[in-house]
Amino acid sequence: MCGIFGYIGHQQALPILVEGLRRLEYRGYDSTGVAVDDGSQVQTHKTVGKVADLKAILPKSVSGTRGIAHTRWATHGGVTQVNTHPHVSADGAIHLVHNGIIENYQHLRRRLSARGIECVSETDSEVLVQMMALELDGGATPLECVQNTLQHLRGTWGLCILFRDHDVLICARNGSPLIIGQGENETFVSSDPHPLTAHTQRVVYLEDGDLAVIERGSFSITTKGGKVEPNITVLEEAWGEADLGDAPHYMYKEIYEQPDALRQCIAGRVDREMGTGRLGGMGLDHAALVQAPHVRLLGCGTAAYAAEIGQMLIEKMGRIPAVTHISSEFRNNDPVINPKAFYLAVSQSGETADTISAVKEIKLKGGQVFGVVNVVGSTIARLCGRGVYIHSGPEQSVASTKAFTNMVAALTIFATQLGRTRHLSKADGRELIQHLQQAPHLMEAYFEDIGPIHEAVELLHDAGSVLFLGRGLSAPVAKEGALKLMELAYIPCLAYPAGEMKHGPIALLEEGSPVVVVAPNDHLKEKTMSALHECKARGAKIILIHEKGDPIGAEGDVSIAVPAIHPWLTPLLTVLPLQLMAYETALKLGRDVDRPRNLAKSVTVE
Ligand code: M6R
Repeated sequence: MCGIFGYIGHQQALPILVEGLRRLEYRGYDSTGVAVDDGSQVQTHKTVGKVADLKAILPKSVSGTRGIAHTRWATHGGVTQVNTHPHVSADGAIHLVHNGIIENYQHLRRRLSARGIECVSETDSEVLVQMMALELDGGATPLECVQNTLQHLRGTWGLCILFRDHDVLICARNGSPLIIGQGENETFVSSDPHPLTAHTQRVVYLEDGDLAVIERGSFSITTKGGKVEPNITVLEEAWGEADLGDAPHYMYKEIYEQPDALRQCIAGRVDREMGTGRLGGMGLDHAALVQAPHVRLLGCGTAAYAAEIGQMLIEKMGRIPAVTHISSEFRNNDPVINPKAFYLAVSQSGETADTISAVKEIKLKGGQVFGVVNVVGSTIARLCGRGVYIHSGPEQSVASTKAFTNMVAALTIFATQLGRTRHLSKADGRELIQHLQQAPHLMEAYFEDIGPIHEAVELLHDAGSVLFLGRGLSAPVAKEGALKLMELAYIPCLAYPAGEMKHGPIALLEEGSPVVVVAPNDHLKEKTMSALHECKARGAKIILIHEKGDPIGAEGDVSIAVPAIHPWLTPLLTVLPLQLMAYETALKLGRDVDRPRNLAKSVTVE
């Protein structure tokens, strides 16, 4: 989704801003622009398309040491140059970039119109810059211009504003992340920690309601109650290691990083001897674990499917009810919150607006929410205050892969810890932990022999639709496989619990319809195979994901074997061929694998 980068310091701003935009690209966007103050005027350049397209239209020399930049993911108004940020006031005195949504912008636009000021774009963001210009004309300082304008707004914003005649940048945050990076006599602003790591590890995450005045070598933050002392966070080095290297795409790189990422997630968090998990960051005491009446998990997309697997493992091991909610459906249904229950907010980015809203709803009603998050210091991590970082490292491909397996692993460790305080025996806990520790090796073993992925791609690439089936822990894996193929290859995909197939989706099947069946060697395999036979009997072509050495391999038109593992850990392996199938099918169709159309990596609007 939209990204912001800003710079004020002693170096030439333009290359820093363009590189910042490049590092924000993975979030997904459709147009991009930059504004640089050259000392006498502010030069603005914008274009529909990629950062490379912007680079191509930039004049050879744009000098200036202060500027702002933006990648836009259209919400209000089409993908056009005029709707691209930065937006500028009619007199050219103020330039602004905005992430978020101004809900009452139509009303504000009418008020501007009544005063003879017409917005040139269709965006909600432009009203802000025109309103600030009125304040500036009235004699307000830059900070007052922003403060006075914000009073009239409803919605969410991350703002970075350049005032032509004042040597500062002003930032404001409400619901849309914004981070200040502190350098030597230079200051950076970004909506994402990733681009900052190229310049500094010392950052300050703005909180909702914060306003920041940023100067060349310093900055100050005010909130409603007055000035606040900035809380400096030192970013992890690992966030810098996000370059593509020799890999053809980020998705490819991230798929193959899964064994190492999984090792990072497990390291130091399991006690093999006691057969349990040790999630220190959750701050769980024995009494809380024993007394918890139920667990509710929240997430969107891939995170929700990982949460569904976690839910099943919590019930299996902890023997308490657990349920997963799609975050966007949670708050609006006025949920009943039990303060003794555990709520787990699962998110790779930690910035997903729907999940943030759900977390706020739970907290408002007195519930305790724990984050299961990848990005350190992200909004969800900070809102929850407690939880478990999944330690996948930077995930830049829009399609989530290594975050999924690490979410599953982190939730497995949580379930084991919960289970061991309740009903899970030491022997069963030990067996599970031992298998979990082997999972990275088994992933590597699979990657050495990925099976006939290309034969599967032949069945998938020209399909009108694809059905994915699985039971138990494999039902969310089937959903994840369907989501991956759909978002990357733009093929309509449907995922169903295998037993439900005969209650409707079977009507779709005809001669040659591809059906992907996930059937590891667990207690549900025989039933899954019945569904497979029902599909076959109607002419479907079966792509079967099964365990190595299992004779059911003979039942698929294309059969892909993964190494055998503990039946509760099968998702960590069965998802791998589904990721590769989606990746290879998308490549065959000539899709943009890392940045599929219309999608964003971080979905920061509700
Ligand atoms: O950052 P989050 O994990 O909260 O993101 C949730 C979804 O937006 C995300 O998983 C999305 O579905 C991915 N594109 C899936 O590959």
